[in-house]
Amino acid sequence: MTTLPEKTPPHGGDVYHLARSLGLALSELVDFSANINPLGFPPGIPAAVDAALAEIVHYPDRRCLALRQDLAAYHGLAPEAILVGNGSTELIYLLARVLKPRRGLIVTPAFSEYEHALHAAGVPADFFPTAEAHNFTLDDVPAAQAGDLVFAAHPASPSGGLLDPELFLQVAARLDEAGAYLLLDEAFIDFVEEASFKAFLGRFPRLLILRSFTKFFAIPGMRLGCLLAAPKMVARLGGVQEPWSVNTMAQVMGRACLADKEYMSESRAVIRREREFLFQGLAALPGLSPFPSTVNYLLVKLTRPGWTAAGLQLQMLAHRIVIRDASNFRGLDERFFRVAVRGREENARLLAALEECLAT
Ligand SMILES: Cc1ncc(COP(=O)(O)O)c(C=O)c1O
Repeated sequence: MTTLPEKTPPHGGDVYHLARSLGLALSELVDFSANINPLGFPPGIPAAVDAALAEIVHYPDRRCLALRQDLAAYHGLAPEAILVGNGSTELIYLLARVLKPRRGLIVTPAFSEYEHALHAAGVPADFFPTAEAHNFTLDDVPAAQAGDLVFAAHPASPSGGLLDPELFLQVAARLDEAGAYLLLDEAFIDFVEEASFKAFLGRFPRLLILRSFTKFFAIPGMRLGCLLAAPKMVARLGGVQEPWSVNTMAQVMGRACLADKEYMSESRAVIRREREFLFQGLAALPGLSPFPSTVNYLLVKLTRPGWTAAGLQLQMLAHRIVIRDASNFRGLDERFFRVAVRGREENARLLAALEECLAT
């Protein structure tokens, strides 16, 4: 049987709890622990929500048809190949419950909810570790059998490294031949959309691709995500998904997000620039070693003996800055932490606070 991780998984972004514990207003904390687009949500959202407000006297469209049509156009797929969920997390739990795999095989380190969803579904979990020397990205084909469900994040979480396209093709082909499913979690891929493997959905019928509106479109509080998969799989999962889990406002917001191409290209440009700034700044600080990333977060290792992410996190809280202690990711240890890429002013503030902490 699966066991839960030894420590409860504090996700990033638990700022309500932190602010309450510290007796601070939410606005007094700068949150580098959740990886949310620093531009905020697309500017068209308030008007779209306003215009749709009258619709809340009805149940939401449980088929999310208009949003699925927009998603289909955006991803170059048929609407039947898309299942919308209350955040991509709902879909992880749904998949574990409905597919009821023989076993889940998680490429680690990984988002902790894969393991929790397997546990909740009574499915045993195994782990396929990646190496620090390989930027914690997959460098080999995991051996799987018929009925297995393999979880891999692309880009990797929490390093932000991309999967080599050649290796992806090998992995997808081998798993498909074996009769195993591959859940590729592309929750952050919007920052490097051209690297998505969604174009291969037609080639590998057991490939499942997870997407999220949370990170790139900065609406974690709204809960919106989707699964891209073979229409038969979408119909199977959709048939047992809880009704109305995606509310009307989430559907409307999703459509407003997809309509704003200017916001998308600006977001990509800002993150590229700020990630480079932050990476260079972190690398220049003694005792810190950041890992190369393609998205809006950076994994960092404390290289000075005796320093821990938990200790640094506490010190940073005195500066009202929240970083993510990454020690509870399987395969990482007490030396690893993760920071989001934010706007220039905040990134500079993070670097200055880190410099001060590390100087003590
Ligand atoms: C790698 C990864 N996948 C999926 C999710 C779930 O995102 P959401 O449920 O908000 O779509 C997260 C959230 O932190 C994540 O880090």
